[in-house]
Amino acid sequence: VSDVIVVGGGLIGCSAAWRLAQRGRTVTILDRGFAPASRAGAGMLAPGGEVEGDSPWALRSVESRRLYPAFVEELREETGLEIDFRACGAIELAYSEHEWTERIARAAAQRPLGIPASPIAPAELRELAPGLDAAGLAGAMLYPEDAIVDPVQVLDALQTACRRRGVEFGGAAVRVDGEDGAVQTETGVLRAETVVLAAGAWSGDLLDGAPKSFPVKGHLIGYQLRPASLRPIVRCGHTYILQRSSGFTIAGSTTQRAGFDARVDAGVVERLHRRSRRYLPGLLKLGPDASWVGFRPAVDGGEPRVGQYGDTRVWLAYGHYRNGILLAPVTSRLLADAIAK
Ligand code: GLY
Repeated sequence: VSDVIVVGGGLIGCSAAWRLAQRGRTVTILDRGFAPASRAGAGMLAPGGEVEGDSPWALRSVESRRLYPAFVEELREETGLEIDFRACGAIELAYSEHEWTERIARAAAQRPLGIPASPIAPAELRELAPGLDAAGLAGAMLYPEDAIVDPVQVLDALQTACRRRGVEFGGAAVRVDGEDGAVQTETGVLRAETVVLAAGAWSGDLLDGAPKSFPVKGHLIGYQLRPASLRPIVRCGHTYILQRSSGFTIAGSTTQRAGFDARVDAGVVERLHRRSRRYLPGLLKLGPDASWVGFRPAVDGGEPRVGQYGDTRVWLAYGHYRNGILLAPVTSRLLADAIAK
């Protein structure tokens, strides 16, 4: 019998389990074993690209970005595993005066929240991102603190760190009972003092009355390119392109309400490639080498649900939507502070 059962073994569930285990709690993670949303993510740690205005989670996303270097370093120290984290900054492009006016207004609204940004001169832009289509550009904004991480490496390190601290892994949960901390699995019922529900888009269906969750499908494409051929994130609105240290370059994404339909649509892939090549014609010359989809965990209202569910033994930890990878350090700290005071 564990003190805590964490339902969901993605970045949110594993990071919460790790922090709780560090504080001496016995923890079991229940998961089907794949964590598809965490594995699909591009790994943008980019409040500059995601925050629209002031809200508690906007501030938490800025804080979580600041926690990331220490979070990654601690994981490296505990596991000896490599994690590709780069504070590479992001360039936000605008191809019309209207878009540029919008970018300036957005940056002005973000600055007081702790997200710095400044316009970049064309010469600096060419140096930062060779291969960029500078023709027709109305302006470009540099977000120096946006960063990237490889979420698969973070997940692998979290699982290793959890195992080293005695966290057990079991099969998927099929039902959570808030009153008595019971979790039904495919093979039986487990009980714990506390249950953390961190099963992403699947969460709402596991607990009666819980806030509804649903997947927002995103297509991503990948190119095998020369390492260091793209340093910063390049983005225009919600199209983004980033490169891992290996040279693997990822472009995203789409937002589709299609349920848990995991099919890759060739037409969507082609459009995403054309959109991305428009910004980086010097780099993305050929079609992508890979394509895949992810399911962003959304909830009505848009803000993550993290906190105790009424006065039950269940703590909710889902609904991170576009920012689950970014928000793992702050969410796991919030949960550990509240559950293991
Ligand atoms: N955070 C980027 C995305 O969800 O597409």
